[in-house]
Amino acid sequence: MAFEDLKGKVVLVTGASRGLGKAMALEFRKYGALVAANYNASRGRAEELKREAGEGLEIFKADVSNREQVKAMIDQVKATFGPVDVLVNNAGTWFLGSFEEFDEKKFESMWRTNFMSMIYTSLEVIPEMKSRGKGAIINVSSNAALGTAAIGTTFYAITKAAVVTLTRRLALELGGSGIRVNAVAPGWIETDLTVGGKSREEVEKMEQSFRSRTMLHMIGKPEHVAKLVVYLASEDSGFMTGQVIVMDGGRIDYLTHGI
Ligand SMILES: NC(=O)c1ccc[n+]([C@@H]2O[C@H](COP(=O)([O-])OP(=O)(O)OC[C@H]3O[C@@H](n4cnc5c(N)ncnc54)[C@H](OP(=O)(O)O)[C@@H]3O)[C@@H](O)[C@H]2O)c1
Repeated sequence: MAFEDLKGKVVLVTGASRGLGKAMALEFRKYGALVAANYNASRGRAEELKREAGEGLEIFKADVSNREQVKAMIDQVKATFGPVDVLVNNAGTWFLGSFEEFDEKKFESMWRTNFMSMIYTSLEVIPEMKSRGKGAIINVSSNAALGTAAIGTTFYAITKAAVVTLTRRLALELGGSGIRVNAVAPGWIETDLTVGGKSREEVEKMEQSFRSRTMLHMIGKPEHVAKLVVYLASEDSGFMTGQVIVMDGGRIDYLTHGI
């Protein structure tokens, strides 16, 4: 069977109550990993996930933008399953608006959730990964980080570009310790983030526009990204680190690939 090495591994997925994170949590369970599924506001959704997954998955509440809460959560994960073998930094949010509509409070909150959280979680898990001489960290960036030309996403793209740099730098610092650090950069996937609060007509119009900007003329599913994340966590990708894997249906509206 593929990904056999994941059996019994402790995998922490942040932001697993909905969307991509939920799909990742379920995908890891298929291969027998012990999944710590983090949530913050969506307790009901997290409990639904727990019911759906059954044994081998537990839910842990923490606002990942808060360092103390991250530390407390990782201590609870250790007490429940043991030290984290695989960290998936997925939790994220966005707000849309032009550069001139800059809202400092919103930006700071998004920056802390999308980026600072990855520093906090990584600092907590690295020492034990080092002592075991292995570990995998997978960060969720976005194709926005690499220069897709969607108007209104500039500040979000900046947070996701920081994730790319963190991934490459951490991979360099940790490679000698046997810890691999990679990132995924998904394109448009239908989740609460992208379509929440919109009517079906609005969603259809928007998705038609995004479909027409991909070579495959399609919108992605959370499961597409989840399967890639599982691959990056497994020893099947044991010779990969510092990489940012784009999965966006072949978007054709890039400003540049040059970062
Ligand atoms: N959907 C896309 O098209 C797309 C494309 C590229 C990249 N991404 C990235 O993929 C990741 C997941 O996005 P999604 O589309 O699945 O979004 P989503 O459906 O809105 O889910 C976001 C998840 O993040 C969690 N979260 C948000 N703030 C948090 C916080 N402060 N502490 C802990 N958890 C928090 C939410 O948990 P609670 O509800 O429990 O608070 C939820 O589980 C994000 O990093 C996003 O930027 C998404």
